[in-house]
Amino acid sequence: MRILGISCYFHDAAAALLEHGALVAAAEEERFSRVKHDFGFPRHAIRFCLQQGRMTGADLDYVAFFEKPFVKFDRIIRTAITTAPRAHAVFRKAMTAWMLDKLWVKARIRDIVGVPDDRILFVEHHQSHAASAFYCSPFSDAAVLTVDGVGEWATATTGIGRNTQLTLDSEIRFPHSLGLLYSAFTAFLGFEVNEGEYKVMGMAPYGVPRYEDKVWRLLEVATDGAFRLNLDYFSFHYSAVKTYSSRFEDLFGPPRPPDAPFFTESSGYPSYFGPKPGNYSELAAQNQHYADVAASIQVVTEEILLRMARSLCARTNATRLCMAGGVALNSVANGRILREAPITDLYVQPAAGDSGAALGAALFVHHNVFGEPRSFVMNHAYWGATLDPDAVTQAATASGLRHTECRDDAEVVGRTVDLLIDGKVIGWAQGAFEWGPRALGNRSILADPRRGDMKDIVNTKIKFREPYRPFAPSVLMDRAADLFQLADPGRHWPARFMLLVVPVLDAARERIPAVTHVDGSARLQTVAADTNPRYHSLIHTFGEAAGVPVLLNTSFNLRGEPIVNTPAEALSTFLRSGMDALVLDRTILYKDSS
Ligand SMILES: [Fe+2]
Repeated sequence: MRILGISCYFHDAAAALLEHGALVAAAEEERFSRVKHDFGFPRHAIRFCLQQGRMTGADLDYVAFFEKPFVKFDRIIRTAITTAPRAHAVFRKAMTAWMLDKLWVKARIRDIVGVPDDRILFVEHHQSHAASAFYCSPFSDAAVLTVDGVGEWATATTGIGRNTQLTLDSEIRFPHSLGLLYSAFTAFLGFEVNEGEYKVMGMAPYGVPRYEDKVWRLLEVATDGAFRLNLDYFSFHYSAVKTYSSRFEDLFGPPRPPDAPFFTESSGYPSYFGPKPGNYSELAAQNQHYADVAASIQVVTEEILLRMARSLCARTNATRLCMAGGVALNSVANGRILREAPITDLYVQPAAGDSGAALGAALFVHHNVFGEPRSFVMNHAYWGATLDPDAVTQAATASGLRHTECRDDAEVVGRTVDLLIDGKVIGWAQGAFEWGPRALGNRSILADPRRGDMKDIVNTKIKFREPYRPFAPSVLMDRAADLFQLADPGRHWPARFMLLVVPVLDAARERIPAVTHVDGSARLQTVAADTNPRYHSLIHTFGEAAGVPVLLNTSFNLRGEPIVNTPAEALSTFLRSGMDALVLDRTILYKDSS
């Protein structure tokens, strides 16, 4: 059976193709369209998936859409009625979008993909999320927890998966939403909603949760984690432009201005911000307040998720947990759940947000609707497009830069390690691009993690990012326990996808300062030889030369742009940045100074 899964029209559109239950290809639309978080109909991603499967739309048995548009439309109408007249503006805007696109998704799929109406199925949003985690996991039985902003009505669900069957038996409904609560703070802290949530998570360790009590005032929570927001503090249910109300500001003060540089006494003032302002101490104190707010919402989010996980495991007697939905990308919370909930194993797949629901919808139809047996485990994230060899040659020639075409992987690895040891910052593109928001060694920027100044070097030369955003360590899976508090790393799936924050062992903190966050933690990625042999070999060879089998890994993109896909995009990003060398599969391009 061939099933194409599609998600779109909210954020992060994507497509995924299943053949006989195994994933053939999966990609987010933004990688092709070059529009960050592109939510439009994913025609490029669909075309890519069908090409990878060597088929056309006519060869598909089914197309599975990741939510039920009419149910969602019903929620928007009902919310508009109950919040009238305040919701007029948001209602008008929503109606325009719905009338133009969203309600007619079936016709668009039929026309663009080329499948008849009776082959197009709609799966509930949280069932798609749940399926994307459980059916990709290696577990025959597991509890399932989904948490996001909102789907049709549900904002969080719990249930259980057993072999081919997945049953969700409880839910929290809009407007009571943990994802929207976190997003309200994301906006308050000056970041874009659905984009800046991980910045809040990165800022939190610079603060102390001194406002935790105030955050708890925003909601009522039962011991099992079920909660209700006090809507007096929010406006997301009736406003198109603001997510929190004036009462929220009464509690936490004025919001942080967007684009204001963030620094505290503990982060220091990075050189790439320019000259230190005269009122540095005053600004640092202001930022400290916002870091404390970030720490407070982060800890409350973790507590709610922990309550949900504990109660779910007690109710189902499960010791394995699968999580999905945008909140499952909160890798700090995932770390706490793994350490503190009564579970032995946790699975989160790399595209835990709405893009991954495209895959979940297809898996749900295959297993839950048709009862087909399971045969697939997602143990890596490399489901996107590969580098076209001709395009690599073309980019190298067009660049006019000195370049080397290596004989084999060993030569690429050897030359790249020499550059890294020499303190160079490398653009590293190889193989298929990653599924989900994290770069996992196929579209990455790499550097030596042993140098304390490397954070500032990479930020200055490459990303111009805020200092509170930590860089991640990629570590050999079988050596991870030497450096990080993670026993038996092979069984911890979220770490393969950089979705787990764990403490760096005390003895290791000084050895890898560039990838250790201010609170001594790291969002690590464990790398296995069987799923990414060239990247594994690179880290192994670097480890032999440097003494630690770890590389600093950050995504191969410039600020505000999607991660690169093609050799031409990698070259363009390389030329517009301060990176020293660019590796495209087996071709290495050098800037003059390299
Ligand atoms: Fe979602």
